[in-house]
Amino acid sequence: MSYIGYKNNNLFVENVSVRKLASKFDTPFYLYSESNIIKNYKSFSSNFIKSNPLICFSVKANSNIQILKVLKKMGSGADVVSGGELLKAIKSGIKPNKIVFSGVGKTEEEVRLAIKKNILLINVESENEAILINKIASKLKKKITIGIRLNPDINAPTHKKISTGKAEDKFGLSKASLISFCLNIKKFKNLKLNAISVHIGSQILSENPFKKTLKVLEEIIKRTKINFKYVDLGGGFGITYKKNDKKINLRNYSNLVEKFKKKYNCNIIFEPGRAIVGNAGILVAKVQYLKKGSNKTFAILNAGMNDFMRAALYDAVHNIIPIIKNSKKNKGPLEFVGPICETTCKFIKYNKYQKLNQSDHVAILDVGAYGASLSSNYNTKPLIAEIIINKTKAKVIRKKQDINSLLNQ
Ligand SMILES: Cc1ncc(COP(=O)(O)O)c(C=O)c1O
Repeated sequence: MSYIGYKNNNLFVENVSVRKLASKFDTPFYLYSESNIIKNYKSFSSNFIKSNPLICFSVKANSNIQILKVLKKMGSGADVVSGGELLKAIKSGIKPNKIVFSGVGKTEEEVRLAIKKNILLINVESENEAILINKIASKLKKKITIGIRLNPDINAPTHKKISTGKAEDKFGLSKASLISFCLNIKKFKNLKLNAISVHIGSQILSENPFKKTLKVLEEIIKRTKINFKYVDLGGGFGITYKKNDKKINLRNYSNLVEKFKKKYNCNIIFEPGRAIVGNAGILVAKVQYLKKGSNKTFAILNAGMNDFMRAALYDAVHNIIPIIKNSKKNKGPLEFVGPICETTCKFIKYNKYQKLNQSDHVAILDVGAYGASLSSNYNTKPLIAEIIINKTKAKVIRKKQDINSLLNQ
């Protein structure tokens, strides 16, 4: 069942007309379907039901606290990459024993916070980080449970800017360094090595790189003879942004994970972000101006790369649909662009599109992940509102930022 779709040519999110919301609230705004988030979470967890994993939602994908609360209610933990995300996850009610902390550059302050909050795992990304954690833990007279992140040198077919598991990428330890670290763990008196973690990239649409990663993990477990209490397999599960995008076969991968869990008697952790929230959000924007170019029409939206960065940053393709469909045609190609003074502030070009008028509203699709969380004040534009729909109810979960708050900095 889809929670975002047309009824009589009018776009609805659950039972709420987007047109009505666009006349009530200042555009642009993010609009989410709570039921869609819940459906995605259930579908992800049912795919892996046999390995009974701890699902730690990757907060970087969408860090709105109300969304974290929805996921907390579903039983989710959190994967965080900063002190701020850690505090937000805890504030949402997620228990520290369901929180893992990744990231290559954790500061002393962040390490101290993670230790103080007693989180499940600090996923260590370098030997020098382990030295720092050990030093802080020793001062605090504590033994800290850590995971060690592997860089498996696997090339996952995805955009080069969101690949994290190749040798040249900054993440994790190479196989050789990781094995040596594990074999010398006793020298870190205040660390307890409870986990091995891995995350090979994002928006991965084939299960093959995940399968290859399991093989590398097996090899490490055999060579170190460590019985890791947790194996954290990261996130990265892709969603379909384009009609022809392949669908990842999670069932098949799930069977392998189940076998792996049984063989090595470990607990499995996943860190999905995009797969939980990606298709559950749209960005509602207004056509500010139409402008004739030499061979196309520009539809200049009032939303730009400051509000939604993925197209500019990753050349990501996000479809844009009208909130009211009509049967008239635009003359010639139409390109949706934003107002920011950068050539890359553009979204998508269509050769054929319906007739649009100035002040019409449109929706940029599949922006629930890495949308609001990646937005900025570039060009001194305020952060836009976020609204969530639950059946017939619309709730503002982030107010549009007051422009005055930007003027004194
Ligand atoms: C360590 C880690 N875990 C999980 C994720 C979530 O990835 P995704 O949203 O593709 O599931 C990321 C994102 O890049 C990450 O860096």
